Amino acid sequence: MTTKRVALATCSDLPALDRDDKPLVPALAQRGVTAEAVVWDDPAVDWASYDLVVVRSTWDYAPRHDEFLAWAETVPHLANPADVLRWNTDKRYLHTLEEADVPVIPTVWLDPARHFSKRAVHTRMPAFGDFVVKPVVSAGAKDTGRYIPISAQSRSMAITHTMELLDSGRWVMIQPYVTSVDSAGETCLTFVDGVFQHAARKNALLTGPSQPTKGLGLYLAETMSAVAPTPEQLDVAQRALDVAGEALGLDRPLLYARVDLVAGEEGPLVIELELTEPNMWMRYSGSNPTLERFADAIAARA
Ligand SMILES: Nc1ncnc2c1ncn2[C@@H]1O[C@H](COP(=O)(O)OP(=O)(O)O)[C@@H](O)[C@H]1O
Ligand SMILES: [Mg+2]
Repeated sequence: MTTKRVALATCSDLPALDRDDKPLVPALAQRGVTAEAVVWDDPAVDWASYDLVVVRSTWDYAPRHDEFLAWAETVPHLANPADVLRWNTDKRYLHTLEEADVPVIPTVWLDPARHFSKRAVHTRMPAFGDFVVKPVVSAGAKDTGRYIPISAQSRSMAITHTMELLDSGRWVMIQPYVTSVDSAGETCLTFVDGVFQHAARKNALLTGPSQPTKGLGLYLAETMSAVAPTPEQLDVAQRALDVAGEALGLDRPLLYARVDLVAGEEGPLVIELELTEPNMWMRYSGSNPTLERFADAIAARA
């Protein structure tokens, strides 16, 4: 029997993979699978030569969204597959979750094709409470800004930010800033083959009324710690994945998924579903059982 080959897709800034994914290589070797870190936009790669390609740390895709999806379409054995990546890399999927009664952060959606005036943008921003402006295609909090409505200067910065995104043809989301993020952070629940593995807590990333975060590297620094999810958090995360599976017409669970939740006043709210290139924070799963399960699942599909 020939040895199975798996590519772990990464970006050129992290050619040797993120620290969290590196242990996958020896874990897969123990299972008789040869795994290699491969840069997704390296033109020399023959993707068809791999039994399975697993997207891991392709964290530079957001400004090259179309190119990234076009690449995904060309990879014969991709997990998660291209249609999942297409659906998940545009946060309008949150609207699909909301329609299916999964609690999400309330969001105002702005379509660039509607050519909103500054005044029209202004009227769509909340009158009270901090709020967030972000593009629907983004990763690592890039181009995401937090603003305060009662400050004329902050409001004006928010309008400029929104207009810039709309003028560049990008859909924009406006959300209330969920203040519990400052104290309780976000809870990130990791799933392998549809089965919950472990959770990690992520600190708040947006420090204050600010200009959008640009040019700070691939992502904002994240501080993580291990955490046990509540039954309610598990339920919301599981429902979000079920709805995603139905919307995508999947006939088997996704190889990997991460659901990020924040605490709303009445319970957990989905802030993001990561089915594309989640950092799974496997090293926060104690003696790392998630790594073993993930390696098992990859080996089984290779
Ligand atoms: N409505 C919000 N309330 C509080 N914090 C938010 C909100 N939206 C975004 N953030 C902060 O910005 C970060 C990035 O936003 P997110 O929606 O997770 O997009 P991405 O991770 O894809 O850039 C979050 O991790 C969180 O710290
Ligand atoms: Mg996020």
